[in-house]
Amino acid sequence: MTIETSPEPGLPDTAVTDAQPTETLIATGGEWWRSAVIYQIYPRSFADDDGDGIGDLVGITKRLDALAELGVDAIWLSPFMTSPQHDAGYDVADYCDVDPLFGTLADFDAMLEKAHALGIRLIVDLVPNHTSWDHAWFQEALAAPEGSPERDRYMFHDGKGPNGDEMPNNWESVFGGPMWERTTNPDGTPGQWYLHIFDKSQPDLNWENPWVREQFHGILRFWLDRGVDGFRVDVAHGLIKEAGLPDYTPPEDAGSMGGGAADALVGLEPGIDADADADPATPPYWAQDGVHEIYRGWHAVLEEYDGERVLCAEAWVEPLTKLARWVRPDEMQQAFNFTYLSAGWSAPELRSVIDGSIAAFATVGAPSTWVLSNHDVVRHASRLALTAENLQGAGIGPNSPGLPDTAVGLRRARAATAVMLALPGSAYIYQGEELGLPEDIYLPDEARQDPTWFRTNHEKYGRDGCRVPIPWEAGAPTYGFGPADGAASWLPQPADWDVYARSSQQGVAGSTLELYKLALRLRAAHALGTGTLEWLGGYGPEVVAFRNGDVTVIANTGSTPVELPVERSADDVLLATEPLTEAALPADTAVWLRS
Ligand code: BGC
Repeated sequence: MTIETSPEPGLPDTAVTDAQPTETLIATGGEWWRSAVIYQIYPRSFADDDGDGIGDLVGITKRLDALAELGVDAIWLSPFMTSPQHDAGYDVADYCDVDPLFGTLADFDAMLEKAHALGIRLIVDLVPNHTSWDHAWFQEALAAPEGSPERDRYMFHDGKGPNGDEMPNNWESVFGGPMWERTTNPDGTPGQWYLHIFDKSQPDLNWENPWVREQFHGILRFWLDRGVDGFRVDVAHGLIKEAGLPDYTPPEDAGSMGGGAADALVGLEPGIDADADADPATPPYWAQDGVHEIYRGWHAVLEEYDGERVLCAEAWVEPLTKLARWVRPDEMQQAFNFTYLSAGWSAPELRSVIDGSIAAFATVGAPSTWVLSNHDVVRHASRLALTAENLQGAGIGPNSPGLPDTAVGLRRARAATAVMLALPGSAYIYQGEELGLPEDIYLPDEARQDPTWFRTNHEKYGRDGCRVPIPWEAGAPTYGFGPADGAASWLPQPADWDVYARSSQQGVAGSTLELYKLALRLRAAHALGTGTLEWLGGYGPEVVAFRNGDVTVIANTGSTPVELPVERSADDVLLATEPLTEAALPADTAVWLRS
């Protein structure tokens, strides 16, 4: 038995071509975001139309048909706004323009129009915690005197000690090193310090300042007026800092997810256990109560617009019951479920986090979201087969312990995806995972660009390995990421990626691409996103088994085959992530059966 690749009888063929009519196919009503499958495009690495080695908006527009064919409901676009690119665009110098690297506002409008014509919604990344140091606001602040309104837009503070030589407190940057940088006065003398949770090129805004709040309402309206369907909000738990900026030393016992601020990408609190009920000690720069008022204001701005616009929080907050505060009815619609992403390939862990997620979000009437990969974490086709601890945000490279077996990783990733896409709620997928792409572990050191790599003196590889441009055409230069006569891709691609190229998988029974297409088609046809989960027992401790509507999902996370104690015929198998024998579900395999 191999994976079914043809549409079920009665299901529409989801292929959409350029011949589609150009009027919008976006449906209204129904709170689409409760069950949507949202595809993350990382613009630098998706498709390079102009041949400079970096992806761009025209490249995205030309490849949108492939996403319609895949069957996604919406796209989340990582930042493409004007930026000096010290953190791959998460350092914004102008929130209301497109960086020339990626194109123009006209290219953006054309992309949005085509996405809508294909029935695909578009949400854009908004980075409110910090700007680039190139932003006019920061340059004005540096030029203005201490105590001026311009300085009050950021977190400028006097240093401690007789000459102000000591940092205002002991906080450590998420990317490594201190969270403070000292300025130089116009006369050359040392000046005040400014706070940066991330790189020193990313100064934190002062969200206690009403002027800052007002600017962001304008920025939201700028993109809403252009027709975007919402925003993914970067570092949505960081905007407000505890009054007095008290010293904070992360706990020594790192636990499974990191050993301190520098180990915890975007602030996942150290020592988190996916099952933890307790509210871990809150660092003074994360998850302060004051952030919620900001999002209530944003919610009201979005309400001014028709068509169900949404906010999705990137907030690394535990436990889930606390994260649920971001999606109360008058705040955001969604929050990324990083507790789910952080779970290992283990049935007890998965059952626990799935239960905990659905319960926590239900208390505020929100759907759960599900996610396995993004541009900040080791791709799940590698992560799920790591045999050693991997600190969040640390990445993996040639010298990392416990490197994954590629075949095991892919097998687990396919099964994990099949579990995720059968869950009620909204699922996020990251470009390239539909091709089964692994992390690029062997990127040459000199190619690495993540600030984490530099700020930790190469101690942590960082996130470049999941950001390598994706392969479209086997055998073509840059695997068709760029034109044949274009520049090399901004991060070099491994020599053995022909096998992952879309062209190698398109229409091939059993390929990961066809598995994703089938899963998305079945998910829509069986309304799994709006369904209800009911656990099924009797399959043993290493099996995740549940029913969602008329689909039964069984996943074997163990290392030995598991009997399938259900009466079934071959027709009852809607999807299987590996070939099935008559009676058993192999290790690291998931199956969807007609209930
Ligand atoms: C983004 C990262 C980025 C950081 C700073 C994160 O949440 O996803 O890629 O480096 O914010 O903006």
